[in-house]
Amino acid sequence: MNIKDQVVTQNAAKFSWEKDDVFGRIATRYDMLCDVFSLGIHRLWKRRVARRILAEDWGTLLDGATGTGDILLRVLPEAQNKGRTIIAADISKKMLAIAEGRLEKYHSAINLRILDAENMSSIESESVDAYSISLCLKICNRHLAIKEAKRVLKPGGRLIVLEASNIYWKWLHKIYLTYMSICMPLLGWLATWGDASAYKYLLHGVRDFPTAEAFAEELRTCGFEDVTFERLSLGIVAIHMARKPYEYGFNKRVR
Ligand SMILES: C[S@@+](CC[C@H](N)C(=O)[O-])C[C@H]1O[C@@H](n2cnc3c(N)ncnc32)[C@H](O)[C@@H]1O
Repeated sequence: MNIKDQVVTQNAAKFSWEKDDVFGRIATRYDMLCDVFSLGIHRLWKRRVARRILAEDWGTLLDGATGTGDILLRVLPEAQNKGRTIIAADISKKMLAIAEGRLEKYHSAINLRILDAENMSSIESESVDAYSISLCLKICNRHLAIKEAKRVLKPGGRLIVLEASNIYWKWLHKIYLTYMSICMPLLGWLATWGDASAYKYLLHGVRDFPTAEAFAEELRTCGFEDVTFERLSLGIVAIHMARKPYEYGFNKRVR
């Protein structure tokens, strides 16, 4: 099987929003659950990815699975000051309703949309300067989501992904996965009052999402260039950055 075939149809968590409205059920507790599952460390990851997003040169950003708006809360103050606009999308109405409340004061800079990251047909091709997606590629068909990201990006547009990854040292990664598989069900059961879905998907997604190197290769296979990644918290998650190629390779022209 070549790399194109291997990667591309996968949904690490085997999650389908059409079959299980888990995010609808946990929307009001989602931010608290992030604190519980990550022991609060998700706040550092989100601050970092927000900084990476803000450092890019864009006028319009599409954030593909905004959830409760936790990352955009860190992006919007500066983005609004600079006259930038953001399309905040998610498939869950209830998650987006929470984002709407939290981001209300930035309403002039934000447009909230119900969108499936795998098929955003209402978004015009080559219409956004940057596309971000955080902690969602492991729970959707990442090949379709990446293809859609590439379609909506303008040539030269930037892709920014925050996702579960692998600790560089395999022995430590194994210990981490063991810790997750023992502690997560217990913490998850308590925090969700017995709703097993949330932590089941999280566990599968974390375990089966590709390594940072393999995911970078997937992005290249999907046609992105300038692919880089930065491991955070030893590699528990990583931020991947990539660029949709400029038309005719004009970016490579020496001035
Ligand atoms: C783990 S949360 C991450 C939310 C947010 N990006 C963050 O980092 O706080 C995953 C989000 O992805 C959304 N989601 C799941 N599948 C999706 C899909 N196919 N298209 C768009 N959003 C999806 C869920 O509704 C949920 O809000």
